[in-house]
Amino acid sequence: MNTVAPLIDTAAIRSEFPILATSTEDGRPLIYLDNAATSQKPRAVIDAIRHYYEHDNANVHRGLYDLSRRATEAYEGARDRIARFIGAAFADEVIWVRGATEGINLVAHSWGGANLKRGDEIVLSVLEHHSNIVPWQLIAERTGAVVRFVDIDEQGRIRLDELRAVLASGHARIVAIGHVSNAIGTIHPVQEIARLAHEAGALLVVDGAQGAPHLKIDVQALGCDFYALSGHKMCGPMGIGALWGRRELLDAMPPYMGGGEMIDYVGTDGSTFKTSPHRFEAGTPNVGGAIGLAAAADYLDGIGHDALWSHEQELTRYGLEVLGGTDGITIFGPHDAAERTAVFSFALEGVHPHDVATIVDVEGVAVRAGHHCCQPLMRRLGVPATTRASCYLYNTTTEIDALARALERARAVFR
Ligand SMILES: Cc1ncc(COP(=O)(O)O)c(C=O)c1O
Repeated sequence: MNTVAPLIDTAAIRSEFPILATSTEDGRPLIYLDNAATSQKPRAVIDAIRHYYEHDNANVHRGLYDLSRRATEAYEGARDRIARFIGAAFADEVIWVRGATEGINLVAHSWGGANLKRGDEIVLSVLEHHSNIVPWQLIAERTGAVVRFVDIDEQGRIRLDELRAVLASGHARIVAIGHVSNAIGTIHPVQEIARLAHEAGALLVVDGAQGAPHLKIDVQALGCDFYALSGHKMCGPMGIGALWGRRELLDAMPPYMGGGEMIDYVGTDGSTFKTSPHRFEAGTPNVGGAIGLAAAADYLDGIGHDALWSHEQELTRYGLEVLGGTDGITIFGPHDAAERTAVFSFALEGVHPHDVATIVDVEGVAVRAGHHCCQPLMRRLGVPATTRASCYLYNTTTEIDALARALERARAVFR
């Protein structure tokens, strides 16, 4: 990663996000530090969606009239845009889904349903989001496969020695890991994990919900087999995401859902199906969402991934230092900024995480408290929950200062 690129102009960026100009009920400026849950949307994305509904809205792949042709072109153009955004070799390796959750379920149920058998192993890390645990547990139950978890070290990094040991059984068919942890910000060494998985004869599924918003994604360079992302975490709309898969794998996979749009022929005696990606896209798709997500890809590429990375690294270093100075705080995750994103998940001695979030909210700062859909990780860390502040491109060191002051206040209240 390049760390010498110019920082981004945060004031200019902020002016492109209408919601950041709004204030809380009591008139304080909004300090939004819950970006791991969902990101805010720039005007370019909002405008692209509005433009679609005002000018191009029709159902796709069906009508022979001009409007439907335009909608289809915009929809398929958006697929091509996301393929370029993630470095895919072919646009038809990109399947539209509702988000990372649906993408992972699709792989688990379609690939897993067709290929897993009793005694096969599915290897996850304890860092995973429930979206990258539960689908595998469900398919394991159906097929007789076994889910195994790889531990993390004391800084929340996957233990590659343990991964090697688990893979040595020779039974692993799938390794499924997040690119970046939503709960503590750890960036997984995906290339290395891909190499280990492939050497063991397993496929690598990457949950990219928190990778795509922050890192330059090149699925071919990462060496994974599937990559799932959510539009709403990367400045795009909710309800749209993408699953990328290697063409030869997708072509051999059975449909996930049945319905209109995904068939070649339907008879009373059975049906035949389209090739990928349309085989996996039953029903009327979220055309406006796909167009909004393509606009988000334009937006992020326009800012530049080196600039984005160096800005977020500055926030990471600053946050670790300033928040880390709070009396009684434990910040989870890697100590080295280069190994993580600007997600600060912490425990504050003597104060319950929900009380921290409530007091911080009174100070106008939006953070989240809870298990962050990572219950196995919380148990591993030995805490019921954490308070989490997660930054994105429009956040500033001044906002981190406001959080630090709010934490001091929480400490004072509970002293
Ligand atoms: C790491 C990770 N994986 C998966 C998901 C699920 O994403 P979605 O709810 O958009 O499907 C999330 C959302 O919080 C996440 O952070």
